[in-house]
Amino acid sequence: MDALVSDVMIPGHRSGLPEGLRDFGVSVAAAALDSFWDDKVHLLSSAERAGIERAVPKRQREIIAGRVLAQALLRRFGRAGVEVPRREDRCPEWPMGLVGSITHTDTVCAVALGQVASVRALGIDLEAREPLDTDVWPLLCRPSEQERALRSPEPGIWIRWMFCAKEAYYKAQFPHTGRFIEARELEVRLDPERGRFSVGFADAPGAGPADRPFLSGTGLLTASDTSLGAAWIVEADTGARAGGIGTAGFK
Ligand SMILES: CC(C)(COP(=O)(O)OP(=O)(O)OC[C@H]1O[C@@H](n2cnc3c(N)ncnc32)[C@H](O)[C@@H]1OP(=O)(O)O)[C@@H](O)C(=O)NCCC(=O)NCCS
Repeated sequence: MDALVSDVMIPGHRSGLPEGLRDFGVSVAAAALDSFWDDKVHLLSSAERAGIERAVPKRQREIIAGRVLAQALLRRFGRAGVEVPRREDRCPEWPMGLVGSITHTDTVCAVALGQVASVRALGIDLEAREPLDTDVWPLLCRPSEQERALRSPEPGIWIRWMFCAKEAYYKAQFPHTGRFIEARELEVRLDPERGRFSVGFADAPGAGPADRPFLSGTGLLTASDTSLGAAWIVEADTGARAGGIGTAGFK
């Protein structure tokens, strides 16, 4: 299986995810989401493939690619043969001591994995670099976010990138808090020049005590000609001493 995975894995920075993930000791594996995966279901454990026969072919590819790439990263962390089943709430169940995140677009699957000793929470998201229609902006963004988007060179792209950042934050916090968050509850500020974003809860009651450790993270951004990428990382020691509510992410 090692040969198979090294054939399909591409380095983290070409996955469309921020290169800065590696500064946190986070490893990334990514691969094209194509017919290559169609006959690879046997590489999954029975728990990992639970219910896969009911999924449409595209979704089957996502599940297979995500688990095989996760297995490759687990081997790098010395955890060969460990499975990553899906929890009832759809989060991946990472083995003790490790924390990860999975994302797919129509063309790419990417997985990121770090050690709990250095990373408390991790969320990644990839989106195709396509503008979001103005009719959906009010569903995903606050008026202030839309105003900032309109001042950018490509407002529809900017809005999609903001949503990508919100999804990355959501995926980092949910496995720990179980908190469902509406996109408009969050206020995201993109800083493309620095490759960073910040996240805050916009209104009262907004963030509660459970959210605080996860707001004290670092938001990383990247973009290519074809994709938009975001990651939210909460460092282990940062999370432990976190206290403030409000925007965070620029360091
Ligand atoms: C979880 C969610 C964010 C996934 O985002 P997406 O862009 O649709 O899909 P992606 O391909 O990027 O990610 C899917 C992967 O996320 C992971 N995932 C699923 N639910 C998750 C959750 N609640 N928390 C963390 N990770 C989750 C899974 O690994 C999944 O892949 P898999 O099923 O193959 O294992 C989305 O489905 C969801 O539940 N959204 C509701 C809340 C929301 O979006 N609010 C707005 C942002 S604040």
